[in-house]
Amino acid sequence: MAGNRTFTMIKPDAVRNGHIGAILNKICEGGFRIVAMKYTKLTAEKAGAFYAVHKERPFYQELVDFMSSGPIVAAVLEKDNAVEDFRKLIGATNPAEAEAGTIRALYATSIGENAVHGADSDENALIEGSFHFSQTEMF
Ligand code: CMP
Repeated sequence: MAGNRTFTMIKPDAVRNGHIGAILNKICEGGFRIVAMKYTKLTAEKAGAFYAVHKERPFYQELVDFMSSGPIVAAVLEKDNAVEDFRKLIGATNPAEAEAGTIRALYATSIGENAVHGADSDENALIEGSFHFSQTEMF
């Protein structure tokens, strides 16, 4: 059964380019409820740990450098079928392939600097949400 929570980050490129408000608006209009949210900055160590699953990929160091290059917004979101519906809302990883109107089509600049992260499974949504928030910070 599909779970009802997902995890997202508004990435440093979108923050730098002034898109926090517009992206949060799309998320709320998309029917997601905010369960937890914070404006923060990842150290390289934390970014490396968050993306450890990609350690062997050629883009790993670039990803870690980018994700620790400036502030982000991290959030846990709630909606029926959250993981799949959120991935539809944000569009393909590569903004050049993202459907028109999706968050990445509107605000991402490249596959590396792609404006937002969305968990890819219920299991990872739980792991990633717990990476950033304790149970007492989720409402
Ligand atoms: P995200 O959904 O946060 O999950 C892993 C990230 O790795 C992905 O978004 C992209 O930002 C990044 N990524 C994936 N493929 C590449 C690539 N070929 N080059 C650079 N970054 C990539």
